[in-house]
Amino acid sequence: MPVDSKLTASAEKLISEKLLVHYDRHARTLPWRAPPGANATDPYRVWLSEIMLQQTTVAAVIPYFEKFTTRWPDVAALAAADEAELMAAWAGLGYYARARNLIACARAVARDHGGAFPPDAETLRTLPGVGAYTSAAISAIAFGRRAVAVDANVERVVARLFAIDTPLPGGRREIDAAADSITPDMRAGDFTQAMMDLGATICTSRRPACGICPLREDCAAFRAADPAAFPVKAPKKAKPHRAGHAWWIESDDHVWLERRPDKGLLGGMRGVPTSPWREGEAMAPDYPVASGWTELAEPVAHVFTHFSLSLTVHTACVERDCMAGRDGEWWPKADLATAGLPTLFGKIAEAAMKEDIPCP
Ligand code: ADE
Repeated sequence: MPVDSKLTASAEKLISEKLLVHYDRHARTLPWRAPPGANATDPYRVWLSEIMLQQTTVAAVIPYFEKFTTRWPDVAALAAADEAELMAAWAGLGYYARARNLIACARAVARDHGGAFPPDAETLRTLPGVGAYTSAAISAIAFGRRAVAVDANVERVVARLFAIDTPLPGGRREIDAAADSITPDMRAGDFTQAMMDLGATICTSRRPACGICPLREDCAAFRAADPAAFPVKAPKKAKPHRAGHAWWIESDDHVWLERRPDKGLLGGMRGVPTSPWREGEAMAPDYPVASGWTELAEPVAHVFTHFSLSLTVHTACVERDCMAGRDGEWWPKADLATAGLPTLFGKIAEAAMKEDIPCP
């Protein structure tokens, strides 16, 4: 059934009013957020938080947000940041294309927009790393403009409120239209964040707390007695598996690290050298230097969004000049925490450093 036939305009208005009253009392206090009703928020902080929050939980983001805003307090500072330093500061947060886009976006704001984020979603969307959701969220939260920002939390709330049973991703258009129908003209930023909070704290994925939901009486899924059945999702495809080799090369309490090519997964991040990662079985190892190599008993496993990976870790201790001519650096093992290793390479380091690696 088309969404707009289900609710009258006054019912739509009532939903946003009830939600905002609830938000005024229960809004989460978050470091990038203004209190309910405040109409000034620093667009830099909103933008930075929204990029960090893409596919990442609030709890994981908070320490990174604090670190970044202390080190780079405004967009001009971030535009002038050293790229390698920024990538290292992002290490562990995942989805590293976000970090590369972050610096490109700060530079575009500095160069093309006089150092100020544009307020409208359409212009925001032209910036690197800023898509439909993020541009709407920034426009609403930082500038109070009416914009409809539908993230996974909002998607779930709206699918339940209107009992939209078209499976995702196809059902997304209906959900967007329904979200638009209940978005008010005033307090757009508070409304957006109230929807996010409702999804994160009450209208949760598995066990929604309908007993304390301010929108229970308006919720078609609650009336149908099965809110957790929404949103309906198309069956997930099995993740492919890839395999390869990683080379842990030591010399004098140092380990050999290289920066990965800018394009591709973990692009621009530091790590130990690896073979290509192939679907199915790993190829035979193609050792990067002639040495006495030892293979760790257990491969290191890691799951990315689109595939799972296992890397067989090979260790060796070599003379320093063995690596001459390769693009990389000897990093003190005692200082590995400052190398900005992404989680995969952190796991490899942890596994390799448990071993006793014999030196010639
Ligand atoms: N997830 C994405 N954006 C958010 C925000 N502004 N507040 C809370 N959770 C969010």
